[in-house]
Amino acid sequence: MTNKVAFVTGAAQGIGAAIARRLSKDGFSIAVADLNITGAQQIAQEINQTGQAVALKVDVADRQQVFDAVDKTQKLLGDLNVMVNNAGIGPTTPLESITPEQFAQVYKINVGSVYWGIQAAVKAFKSQGHGGKIINASSQAGQVGSPNLGLYSGTKFAIRGITQVAAKDLAKDGITVNAYCPGIVKTPMLKDIAHKKAQVQGKDDAWMMDQYAKNITLGRLSNPEDVAACVSYLAGPDSDYMTGQALLIDGGMVFN
Ligand SMILES: NC(=O)c1ccc[n+]([C@@H]2O[C@H](COP(=O)([O-])OP(=O)(O)OC[C@H]3O[C@@H](n4cnc5c(N)ncnc54)[C@H](O)[C@@H]3O)[C@@H](O)[C@H]2O)c1
Repeated sequence: MTNKVAFVTGAAQGIGAAIARRLSKDGFSIAVADLNITGAQQIAQEINQTGQAVALKVDVADRQQVFDAVDKTQKLLGDLNVMVNNAGIGPTTPLESITPEQFAQVYKINVGSVYWGIQAAVKAFKSQGHGGKIINASSQAGQVGSPNLGLYSGTKFAIRGITQVAAKDLAKDGITVNAYCPGIVKTPMLKDIAHKKAQVQGKDDAWMMDQYAKNITLGRLSNPEDVAACVSYLAGPDSDYMTGQALLIDGGMVFN
């Protein structure tokens, strides 16, 4: 695969960084998009040792910023073929404590970003005269409700729904839309969630990690690279006959 371009949000760390590295190995030029521009620049610099990448500062909750960043990607890298709407936040929000401000923030970032990312990608694909692939981050918490993650879990269910609608609406334009559903992945987000869950139980973080592992059929937590391998499949030609799906890549937590 040559001259293909992928835009990856939340790519300064965690799963997004692993996706950016993996898609570069697959032959894509990468737009490393994140609110954290310093982190994005570090990942882009690393990728530029062997491939091609640019770092872009973007708040994915802001529609105009997403459109501007995708425009810039087309100018700098010459095309857009794959959009990975990966950025998200996962605050611990027990149901009875959720505030309107938290609701607005989590839905704007996790769900708004997927709408804006889809819109910007469709505009770019059409301007380049070809179809493309859109890939959204859901979660095992978007398949089964997750305790204490009332807002987060709701957003991840919403993303599966939006993925299905977009798949149906965009097939006529040669665009496939799929989602990936990671389980428990060792990233800064997970460390934060695990720390808060452990605190509630009066335990330490290592205890929480053991509890997680007990509920995973393969007996270990996920590395970001496990998820990146799934996204590699969704971004490449082997998934051309797949659309509207939400692939579980969780070591065997949820069985459908
Ligand atoms: N870690 C897990 O166990 C897990 C499990 C299931 C799903 N996921 C999903 O995978 C995705 C990545 O998760 P992660 O664990 O790598 O998270 P992370 O917190 O480690 O990294 C998220 C990245 O997104 C960026 N970001 C946050 N808000 C942003 C905004 N408004 N605009 C632009 N960038 C923004 C952050 O700067 C950060 O670089 C998320 O959508 C998350 O919900 C994670």
